[in-house]
Amino acid sequence: MTAHILDGKAFAAKLRTQVATHVARLKADHGIVPGLAVVLVGDDPASQVYVRSKGKMTVEVGMQSFEHRLPDTTSEADLLALIAQLNADPAVHGILVQLPLPAGLNSDLVINTIDPAKDVDGFHISNVGLLGTGQKAMVPCTPLGCLMLLRDHHGSLAGKHAVVIGRSNIVGKPMAQLLLGDSCTVTIAHSRTADLAGLVRQADIVVAAVGRAQMVPGAWIKPGATVIDVGINRIAGDDGGTRLVGDVDFDSCATVAGAITPVPGGVGPMTIACLLANTVTACSRANGLAEPEGLTV
Ligand code: GUN
Repeated sequence: MTAHILDGKAFAAKLRTQVATHVARLKADHGIVPGLAVVLVGDDPASQVYVRSKGKMTVEVGMQSFEHRLPDTTSEADLLALIAQLNADPAVHGILVQLPLPAGLNSDLVINTIDPAKDVDGFHISNVGLLGTGQKAMVPCTPLGCLMLLRDHHGSLAGKHAVVIGRSNIVGKPMAQLLLGDSCTVTIAHSRTADLAGLVRQADIVVAAVGRAQMVPGAWIKPGATVIDVGINRIAGDDGGTRLVGDVDFDSCATVAGAITPVPGGVGPMTIACLLANTVTACSRANGLAEPEGLTV
């Protein structure tokens, strides 16, 4: 058996088209241009790539992009002052502070200084609490993208056993909340979980978000299960260069799974598309307008 490939790249392109349509409508009907501010502190090369890509796609869907690049010597007080300024700026509807922050900056404090209504990452404690209690929240982009792919493939997720491998605040925990909200039976596994293989073998849905290259082999997958791979790991390639792989071993898992996301081209493109979707949602809410449909949960 060969798994159905969940084409996140194509799905994300469709989602960005929907976002662009809503942006055009906001402009035409209300004279409003949604704006997204991205703050990058320091010069982490991976973060620089992400931030450039976010800025480019923001402009492509017709929104305004505000980029703030600060040196890694930036003081916490200066960073908090910038966030206060963005909170007060009516042209800014979404604020994203790229993580990880350089050592010495308290990321919890920084994130909790963002106006929750502009917190398009969904990391502010109010949004975490709203999501956990089933209320309208800003939902973290990567898990939101995974949920959209799962719903698109399965329709209802009710009653399915989902095993989320990884307990980060960015992916694992909010992913578990979203799956619970869709009536899955959810298990969160992590580095200290006993018999991870045995647990994963029980899963109808596996979400791997651990940041370890190819750690989930096909032998762990229940035949027909759906595998969502959040990992982006660079490893040595056969040609002497490097290549991107996920947290699951794609080749062996694809022979057992019913459906699987590739790396690259699976979850990755969904994250930025969901960020843009969250920005339009935040902009609509801020202006008391009807929320665009299909862009959030
Ligand atoms: N670093 C890795 N993923 C993310 C994300 O989704 N948002 C932010 N702000 N930083 C990240």
